[in-house]
Amino acid sequence: MNKETISLEMEVYEFIEDLEERDARLLRAARSETKNAYAPYSQFRVGAAALLTNGELVKGTNQENASFPAGICAERVLLSTASSLFPGMAIESMAISYDNINGNSDKPISPCGICRQSIYEFQSRTKQPIRIIMGGQEGKIFVLENAASLLPMVFGAEDMQ
Ligand code: THU
Repeated sequence: MNKETISLEMEVYEFIEDLEERDARLLRAARSETKNAYAPYSQFRVGAAALLTNGELVKGTNQENASFPAGICAERVLLSTASSLFPGMAIESMAISYDNINGNSDKPISPCGICRQSIYEFQSRTKQPIRIIMGGQEGKIFVLENAASLLPMVFGAEDMQ
């Protein structure tokens, strides 16, 4: 028996001013996009913004539903929007932020499990790793070079060959 370890490396920034300008711009867009969320049930407004490889900016917010499972996360709204407006175009980087109306918004959040799987599918099919920038309205910021590291032992199309 052998033991193996899977580790995750990320960059941690104290201030948005410390980010590269293109990342800072994307995080600002995600922060501001939270105001367009439809989150009357959770009061947890999530905003995502992505820079496509053609230079376009695409945004998404969570859209909830009285039938809770019918709601959809900001990240998957963004992926569907990108893929509908610019079919086949890759995403270079995506920022994710939130505004927790009844609590704090000062720690990064990372995409939920379903979104991780969807982000992985998107980057696999476009053959371009997606850089992920995570931050609240304030506080520390995490940056991952490749969204694949969010989902160790991922199940993907390659496993079905
Ligand atoms: N949510 C997102 O949109 N993205 C995430 O990364 C985490 C959770 C949404 C789903 C739901 O509308 C609300 O946040 C609370 O879970």
